[in-house]
Amino acid sequence: VPCGSGPWPARSGSATSVRVEAPGKVNLFLSVGAPGPDGYHPLTTVFQAVRLIETITARRQSAQALGEITLALEEPDDAVPTDASNLAVRAAHILAEATGVSEGVDLLVRKRVPVAGGMAGGSADAAAALVACNALWGTGLGTGELMSLASRLGADVPFPLLGSTAVGHGRGDMVTPLMARGTYQWVFALHHRGLSTPEVFARFDEMGAGRGGPQEVSEAMTVALRSGSPQALAACLHNDLQAAALDLRPELADVIAVAEAAGALRAIVSGSGPTVAALVADAAGAQRVARALMSSGLCAEALRADAPVAGARVVG
Ligand code: C5P
Repeated sequence: VPCGSGPWPARSGSATSVRVEAPGKVNLFLSVGAPGPDGYHPLTTVFQAVRLIETITARRQSAQALGEITLALEEPDDAVPTDASNLAVRAAHILAEATGVSEGVDLLVRKRVPVAGGMAGGSADAAAALVACNALWGTGLGTGELMSLASRLGADVPFPLLGSTAVGHGRGDMVTPLMARGTYQWVFALHHRGLSTPEVFARFDEMGAGRGGPQEVSEAMTVALRSGSPQALAACLHNDLQAAALDLRPELADVIAVAEAAGALRAIVSGSGPTVAALVADAAGAQRVARALMSSGLCAEALRADAPVAGARVVG
C-alpha cells in the first residue's frame, strides 16, 4: 500500500482503499480470578489465532462526505449492529481522535468468525479497522500505539493485532507472544443463539468460581506448545468459564460428548462460549467430528479451521 508519498502534506495515505484480514481466536487455557472493583476479572489466558478470518475494507470517501465513519456488512446480520456501537466503528473513531484526523471512512466487513460465539470476532473487526484506517489515513502509528488503543476498546482487541499464539494477562489485553510449533486442526461447533460474555462472567461469580488470583500457564502447556503435539496440547486445554457456560447452556455438555465420542482429542467451550472447540489429530479426524456434530442436531454448523495464523495485516 503506497502511503504518505506524493506532494500532499496532509496526513493521509494515497490509496483509495485498504483491505485488512484479522483472525478469530480460541483460548487454549483460561484461568479467571475474582473480579476487581471495576468488575473486570484478572485472568491468565493462552490465545491461539485460528483460520476463521474477518476482512475489513476501509474506503476513502468523496470530498462531500468528509468526517463520517460508516460501516456496512457484506452479508447483513441482525445480530451485528452497523451504527456507532459497532466495535470497528469505535476503533476508527478512537484512532481518528488519537491522531487528529478529521477524515471519515467507509468500512465494509466480511464476517467469518461466529457472532457472539466466544471467538472474538467483533474484537478482530476492531483490530482490523485500526490497521486499515492507520494505513488509509497515513497516520503511521506503530504496533505499541495500536496495542494501547486496542486495549481501550476491549480486553480481546489487542490479541488479533498480534495473532499466532500468545499469553494474555490483566483483563486479557496484556499480550505476549508464546513459542509454539506445528499446526493444529480444530472443529468449531456453532450455535444459533450466542452467549453474552458479561452474563457468563456474572454466572462464574455467582457460582463462586473465582477464588483469589488466576493460575499461571502450566509448564505442561508451554511444553506441549513447544513440542507441536496436538495430543500433548489436548491434555492441558483448560477453561475456567466452561462450567458457567454449561450452567447457562446445559446442552453444550452433549456437544462436547459427541465431539469426543467421534474421536476429538478434547473438546472445550471456546472462551465464554457457546462455541465448542474440538481439537482433532488430523484431517480425517476433523471430517469425522464435523459429520458427527452436524448429524447430532445439536449445533447450527461445524466449521473446520487450522491454527495458528498471523495477526491483522494489510492484504490489499
Ligand atoms: O473488554 P470487553 O468489552 O470485551 O469485555 C466484555 C465484558 O466481559 C466486560 O464488560 C466484563 O463484564 C467481562 N469481562 C470480565 N473480565 C475480563 C474481560 C471481560 O469480567 N477480563
